[in-house]
Amino acid sequence: MIKKALFPAAGYGTRFLPATKSVPKEMLPVVNKPLIHYGIKECMNAGIFEIGFVTGRSKRAIEDYLDHSPELEEKIRGTSKEKLLKETMEMIDKCTFTYVRQKEMLGLGHAVLTGEPLIGDNPFAVVLADDLCEGDVVSQMVNLYKKFKCSIVAIEEVPKNEVNKYGVIKGKRIEDGIYLVEDMVEKPDINKAPSNLAIIGRYILTPDIFDLLKETKPGKGGEIQLTDALLRLAKEGMVIAYKFKGKRFDCGSVDGFIKATNYFYEKEFKGS
Ligand code: G1P
Repeated sequence: MIKKALFPAAGYGTRFLPATKSVPKEMLPVVNKPLIHYGIKECMNAGIFEIGFVTGRSKRAIEDYLDHSPELEEKIRGTSKEKLLKETMEMIDKCTFTYVRQKEMLGLGHAVLTGEPLIGDNPFAVVLADDLCEGDVVSQMVNLYKKFKCSIVAIEEVPKNEVNKYGVIKGKRIEDGIYLVEDMVEKPDINKAPSNLAIIGRYILTPDIFDLLKETKPGKGGEIQLTDALLRLAKEGMVIAYKFKGKRFDCGSVDGFIKATNYFYEKEFKGS
């Protein structure tokens, strides 16, 4: 039922300068695969093959990664190296990738709204590639959508002193790990946060979010916040928060990036 995913990927990635001066942060490799590779695989495992990117200047490496490189492919055909490109080739063959540029960096809400022409009137997943997830979180959320048919945010308990880095929800528990959202605040002060249930970079959104985003005024940091539009949706309709099963690494921070690298090295790469 969810056939499309949107990857907001226009941010500057300033925490990874100087690397991100010319390399999009979404292309930084965790072991030997760029961050978007993991996110796209997660979508494919959930049956999503139509993937839209909201990009910006200096992001062309993303498009190049998701297209054939005839010379390279020819060079490694029939050699032991060929298997290294197998998954990427599968992505290229099975998915369609579309792109739109965000001309001004006005926040995540604005980025999602910029993706409207790629999504149309369909429910869709949003993947923030720098939240690297293990455990097919998108699949879990797609299954939940089949039951609730409303927008869903993935959440995780974070230490109290870190709530100011996230959108934070307050909700009524309706099932194990599932909350009906009553309130949500973007990057609250530590002592004003409604809980320690933080939104991570996986969402299922219904297309009515676009009209709400068009009316959303700049919020925290002067940016148009997806959290603010979702709060309206929660008040006027219904939004579910879902404590996903699996692991998440905050690859937007050097610390999380190193943890992810060590984890995936041990799990997938070592000895291969
Ligand atoms: C964004 C969202 C925030 C969410 C976070 C998850 O913030 O605005 O609500 O908790 O992603 O990674 P950003 O990290 O882009 O500042």
